[in-house]
Amino acid sequence: MLEGKRIVLGVSGGIAAYKAIEVCRRLVDAGAHVSPVMTSGAQHFVGSTTFSALASEPVRTSLWEGSDPIPHTTLGQGADLVLVAPATARVLAAYAHGLSTDLLTNILIATRAPVVVCPAMHTEMWEHPAVEANIELLRSRGVHIVEPEAGRLAGGDIGKGRLADPADVVAAAERALADRDLEGLHVVVTAGGTREPIDAVRVIANRSSGKQGHAISEECVRRGANVTVVTTTELPTSPAVERIQVETASEMQTALNNVVPRADIVIMAAAVADFRPRDSVDGKIKKAGGVPEVILEPTPDLLEAIGRNRHPRQTIVGFAAETCDVVTNARSKLERKCLDLVVANDVSAEGVGFAHGTNAVTLVAAVGERDLTLRSKAEIAVGVVDEIVRIRSSMRSLDAGRVSPTN
Ligand code: CTP
Repeated sequence: MLEGKRIVLGVSGGIAAYKAIEVCRRLVDAGAHVSPVMTSGAQHFVGSTTFSALASEPVRTSLWEGSDPIPHTTLGQGADLVLVAPATARVLAAYAHGLSTDLLTNILIATRAPVVVCPAMHTEMWEHPAVEANIELLRSRGVHIVEPEAGRLAGGDIGKGRLADPADVVAAAERALADRDLEGLHVVVTAGGTREPIDAVRVIANRSSGKQGHAISEECVRRGANVTVVTTTELPTSPAVERIQVETASEMQTALNNVVPRADIVIMAAAVADFRPRDSVDGKIKKAGGVPEVILEPTPDLLEAIGRNRHPRQTIVGFAAETCDVVTNARSKLERKCLDLVVANDVSAEGVGFAHGTNAVTLVAAVGERDLTLRSKAEIAVGVVDEIVRIRSSMRSLDAGRVSPTN
């Protein structure tokens, strides 16, 4: 996978810079052409000669050295992958906000190649809201993030922030180059909770944040899909995503009627209201008129309609937020709504589902179940998309098996 690939290895100023030497060596051993770029901070931790000796070409440290007047565009345009290990809080912030302060951040902004960043810093810094927000922003733009590990940090502290193991960094680089398994496919993802109006100011809503749906949509973009997101949220989407903003179940239904016929994969992560006020009032209901009686009516089950009218080439995925009998309930939804996969979670469990940054799910398919234990929603998204790819490839093998040898 790495053979012949041109990789810009950015090294920024943290103690983990010494581990980047091992990353460099592994990339070169795997046949990659590695162009190392060090920030001035990185040179306080390791010598540039070390990288020049190990990499495929001498290290670059500045925009202004050497004969190339535009090293950032030369390197950025020529790269198959830009890998930053370690990535400091400063480099993450500069990249997230488009600040081209040195050669490395210029390359990050100038490249159209996939980018993998491997943050490493003290736990307090990693957990700072500014760093968290920058990570989320980069993730939402399709940047691959290799999260740091927990362990011993500089100065003897213990906590999350240690650069991922070099083998894992190289594996992430391979994935970033290989993971184009949704190339050419159109994926529709719904996200967020619908809001059903009672009057001009009040709504019936639910606790869905939309984070899981958006994480899935970004994972699909990273893997080469054309993605349409039908969302009720304000969460960001990468520029490559077609975004349709909706509020109610009825608006979501209209949007889906337009986009589902051309979809290869439909992922209904949205929490669609099951009931809505039958008669929404135009103005505001004044409390002087007494407690109003709100009569509810059922909404149409959008997923069930999609499942029952599906085209054979389509893969249809539903979600099930449960508080008990998770697998039994999910399996009955799988069958009733004619789905390929149900992503089920027990929303009563700690750290799971609504409003959390983490999730734990059971993937329920016709052939069996698979548990994805508690992890970030981005990591759950990887597992869900992996499962969809598996289901699609087993369907293809079945179809191939049905072709008679005499045909
Ligand atoms: N869904 C939908 N339209 C609705 C309600 C739900 O498309 N009106 C979709 C959700 O997007 C989700 C799945 O159906 O993918 C889960 O629905 P859920 O409400 O949990 O299941 P129900 O069939 O309503 O069953 P129950 O209320 O018994 O849990």
